[in-house]
Amino acid sequence: MCARQKTVLIGVTGCIAAYKSCEIVRAFQKRGVRAKVVMTEHATEFVGPTTFRALTREPVAVGLFDEPGSPIHHISLAQEADLMLIAPCTANVIAKLAQGICDDLLTTTALATKAPLVIAPAMNVNMYEHAATQRNMQILRERGCHFIEPDEGFLACGDTGKGRLADIGEIVDACLEILEVEQDMAGLNVLVTAGPTQEPIDTVRCITNHSSGKMGYAIAEAAAARGAQVHLISGPVSIPEPQGVQVHRVTTAQQMLEASQELVDGCDIVVCTAAVCDFRPAAPASRKLKKGDGTSELEHIELVQNPDILATLASCEGRRAIVGFAAETDDVVEYAKGKLASKRADLIVANDVSEGKVFGSERNEVWLVTAEGEEHVPEMDKVHLADVVLDKTLSLYDLKMA
Ligand code: C5P
Repeated sequence: MCARQKTVLIGVTGCIAAYKSCEIVRAFQKRGVRAKVVMTEHATEFVGPTTFRALTREPVAVGLFDEPGSPIHHISLAQEADLMLIAPCTANVIAKLAQGICDDLLTTTALATKAPLVIAPAMNVNMYEHAATQRNMQILRERGCHFIEPDEGFLACGDTGKGRLADIGEIVDACLEILEVEQDMAGLNVLVTAGPTQEPIDTVRCITNHSSGKMGYAIAEAAAARGAQVHLISGPVSIPEPQGVQVHRVTTAQQMLEASQELVDGCDIVVCTAAVCDFRPAAPASRKLKKGDGTSELEHIELVQNPDILATLASCEGRRAIVGFAAETDDVVEYAKGKLASKRADLIVANDVSEGKVFGSERNEVWLVTAEGEEHVPEMDKVHLADVVLDKTLSLYDLKMA
């Protein structure tokens, strides 16, 4: 998870609308927000924790002592959350929160968190309109809690009236507004290539490089957090997949090219951060080659040049902003200018990789090279650098589309 990405802790309580929490999780993920779930015991009667575990790829706790690794789980959950949303929230949980009762993990976490608390009630109309519930909601409002009013309509119990869980889009939008998640890339389709490629020599050996994929993953995650639809085409890396991003795993440059070509149509922005191997063995062996006495095939591997993915995508039909990266050990800016022209990119993010810098590191210092000139970006962590690169990319995109 990148440091910039916001975390919403979704509390699910025992109500027929609990199944809608699955869609709420998905909606947050699509907007680049990390979703974690905590449930009441009653909620598990409606949806199992396994469902939320699969959707969030995070642990889902119900009881106060469910997480053996964390005896004070409610505190870690409370601290992790940038916002806590309880949706659907029952009259019972509203009453407990109003009175400060914390007899399970969800209510204890809600009391322990300093994050904004958003409640989307869902219940029978009579329970909702009951003076006790209305009073409890008033108490919580006075404490700064945000409510998302339920809708009116046909209720699961057969009654008609106010009590249906509010529209999922409305709930998520309200939370994003409180979180101040900037959505300046909403509606844009972004394609990012990341990581190294591996070019097989034989069935066990390959040519590759030290790229960690961190820069590309940070860009993909930042673009998703800013509202873009993101496809991340990733070579083999060992870092976690960003949430809210569609990840396509590939191994070789040829596969990366094919995956990119399939997706480029309809893309507004292409960011090639991948450290694509420039060459690949011409004829990878279908068995393990043996080391020998000087006549071994391993000593003379014939190489052929790989396709340039960035240049290929830049020449595809359609108008889009094309961003490339250039890792150089000397004359960083000069080489980047050459690449800008030869690859027909709109922006080259150039960095100095001399003396083992950058690869695998959390930080980077770059130059943003465009047709207008170059801007130096001082060293910063890749998470924040991702936003700087996207800011520049967006301004170039706007110019190109104007
Ligand atoms: O030519 P060079 O490898 O230095 O160019 C780096 C830029 O071009 C990066 O953005 C990289 O992702 C992209 N590239 C590519 N396909 C290649 C080689 C580089 O997309 N075969």
